[in-house]
Amino acid sequence: MGRLLSIVSVLAIASSVLGLEARDRWIGETRKENGEKYQCKCYSDNACWPVASEWTRLNSTVGGALKAALPPGAPCYQQAEGVSGSPYDKAACETVQANWMNEQWLTDHPVANLWPLYTNGTCLPTNNPEATCTRGFYGEYVIMATMKDHIKAGVDFARAHNLRLIIRNTGHDFMGRSTGYGALIINTHSFKEAKFVSKYTGPGGWTGSAVTVGAGVQGRELYRQAFQQNPKVVVVGGECPTVGWAGGYIQGGGHGPLSGIYGMGADNVLSFDVITAKGEYVTANSDENSDLFWALKGGGPSTFGVVTSITAKTFPEIPTAATILDINSTHTTDPAVFNEGVRIFHNLANMYTEHDMFVYFEVGPGPGRLHVQPFVGPRMTKADMDEALKPLFDQLKAAKIPHTTWSKEFPTFFEMYMDIFEEEPPNQYSAIGGRIFTQKDMEENADEIAKAVLMSVNPTPEIFGFSIGHIVNPGNAVPNPDNAIHPTWRNASSFVITNTGMTGQESWEQKQYFQDVQTNIIGKALREAAPYGAAYVNEGDLNEPDWQTAYWGSNYERLLKIRKKWDPEGVFYTEVTPGTENWKVLDYGKKLCKKA
Ligand SMILES: Cc1cc2nc3c(=O)[nH]c(=O)nc-3n(C[C@H](O)[C@H](O)[C@H](O)COP(=O)(O)OP(=O)(O)OC[C@H]3O[C@@H](n4cnc5c(N)ncnc54)[C@H](O)[C@@H]3O)c2cc1C
Ligand SMILES: *[C@@H]1O[C@H](CO)[C@@H](O)[C@H](O)[C@H]1NC(C)=O
Ligand SMILES: *[C@@H]1O[C@H](CO)[C@@H](O)[C@H](O)[C@H]1NC(C)=O
Ligand SMILES: *[C@@H]1O[C@H](CO)[C@@H](O)[C@H](O)[C@H]1NC(C)=O
Ligand SMILES: *[C@@H]1O[C@H](CO)[C@@H](O)[C@H](O)[C@H]1NC(C)=O
Repeated sequence: MGRLLSIVSVLAIASSVLGLEARDRWIGETRKENGEKYQCKCYSDNACWPVASEWTRLNSTVGGALKAALPPGAPCYQQAEGVSGSPYDKAACETVQANWMNEQWLTDHPVANLWPLYTNGTCLPTNNPEATCTRGFYGEYVIMATMKDHIKAGVDFARAHNLRLIIRNTGHDFMGRSTGYGALIINTHSFKEAKFVSKYTGPGGWTGSAVTVGAGVQGRELYRQAFQQNPKVVVVGGECPTVGWAGGYIQGGGHGPLSGIYGMGADNVLSFDVITAKGEYVTANSDENSDLFWALKGGGPSTFGVVTSITAKTFPEIPTAATILDINSTHTTDPAVFNEGVRIFHNLANMYTEHDMFVYFEVGPGPGRLHVQPFVGPRMTKADMDEALKPLFDQLKAAKIPHTTWSKEFPTFFEMYMDIFEEEPPNQYSAIGGRIFTQKDMEENADEIAKAVLMSVNPTPEIFGFSIGHIVNPGNAVPNPDNAIHPTWRNASSFVITNTGMTGQESWEQKQYFQDVQTNIIGKALREAAPYGAAYVNEGDLNEPDWQTAYWGSNYERLLKIRKKWDPEGVFYTEVTPGTENWKVLDYGKKLCKKA
């Protein structure tokens, strides 16, 4: 870092000697691409990059919490790009290697990402310390914020110096939203407080129980604390134990196992505490800043402000039943039998949602793997569940589809959740896409939808992938919400995430090809099979055609206006979110620039 920094500082001092306006000093380089002119954010090879003393000042403002954004694999290397000393540390390297598939460990790391395609798969843990750790798209510095003022200082610094700013909570995002080349990152993971009340007294017309959740609280932590209350309560959260709740999850809408009876996560929000792009502390609820309140409920992550905490409704605990279904190579190696099993299972999606269920399933390629774990039956006993699913098992039997199934009932949702839901392995490489199939799509075209889902796991002879499905209709419980979530979620029947498997070692062009298969082969088939459907901003395709409509439908125009009001300069950025039309990451995933 030393030499580079000193050249940059000389340039910076030169520009101030030349008498440039303070403002002009923070203008990044100009670039041309496809005949368009772009003006970029400031990066470490630009004169406008802050000088060492400015970083030191930021570091003291945040109480020493500023760190180099070193990839998790860095301790396995003698040298790391942009770092003067050696990051090598044998014990720390062994810890990284031991935890590479451990989601909680990765989410606790300052900058690790669970989906390494978007960090450019760089600086992997290695037994060869002679190699060099390259920084890829991990970013430059990270503020390990422990106070709201640290977040504000980061936002102010990024705005004043025109830096790419990344808000990183858990690093869970499938779409590269919590990482960025050359960025200043604000890590919100340590905001772990959750405070429960039995009677909410704020605005919004809700007088039931509620919880105020810090930005860093994760799904399972929240469920566990809700279960420890007296009386026990539940919160609408995701199926994954380590997804952050108040970060990307709520700001993208948030589906989960209780969405069939309580709607989306964001439908239940009563109030947000936010730090705006201008660095102001504001509250957004039905009384104050109601436009921001509306937009933060599903309008897109890292778009309208940094959320520091959220207050949301909680509900009494409920008995819950769960059913498991497997059809795989232990049952049949005949693809026709397997495919028919998947068709029968998926074609009944509307029937499951009528019973308020949430169904989590995985589909894998030939000879075929269907793993449904679980069908969740809120407020149901084992007998209720067996009765509700009888049409499924009757049809499987009639079609002679071998399978394994069992059901179990639990006194509470939490006990079901802990017993039945499985951890998902991180650090897999895949390009992703997805689609929401509506009730009407399922009524009119279920067979074609099942075919498209089966195709998605083996879209070309040489590409294999896996698909993850969620059958749920949040419109059962909340048919007409006042928020930014795509209205099509109210008519949802099944939502699938499609993955094209990669090794991570592909060239840039090959990576683009995998993404292209997602968009133009898999995505195309899903769109054609489900013309009334939509896409989900948290789990979708970065190249989704007509993404504004696909992700937000009729809510988009309003979101665009609210974005322009609260972040006119583009302090925040993450791809395919409201108001990012003129922005582009150029130079093979590196520099964020705006059309001039
Ligand atoms: C294994 C797995 C399971 C999942 N299960 C579900 C599920 O059941 N239901 C569901 O709806 N989604 C699910 N998701 C998707 C999940 O909702 C998104 O990945 C979400 O963005 C994660 O949010 P995060 O804050 O934990 O992640 P991060 O990757 O840290 O952040 C994601 C985005 O949110 C922004 N962000 C984070 N914190 C803040 C903040 N405080 N203020 C403003 N912006 C912020 C980041 O800048 C980034 O753009 C799952 C994802 C994975 C990988
Ligand atoms: C910030 O300050 C702390 C405490 O003085 C120090 O340990 C850390 O290395 C500094 N960060 C940077 C990037 O220099
Ligand atoms: C990202 O990875 C590609 C290979 O897919 C490589 O060509 C490129 O140099 C990498 N960029 C950075 C900044 O690491
Ligand atoms: C196949 O199904 C059996 C029976 O439920 C299960 O034990 C096994 O783990 C499944 N295999 C795969 C690869 O999912
Ligand atoms: C979608 O759901 C809403 C609310 O439940 C309903 O009013 C509307 O008719 C549905 N639209 C379609 C196309 O099914």
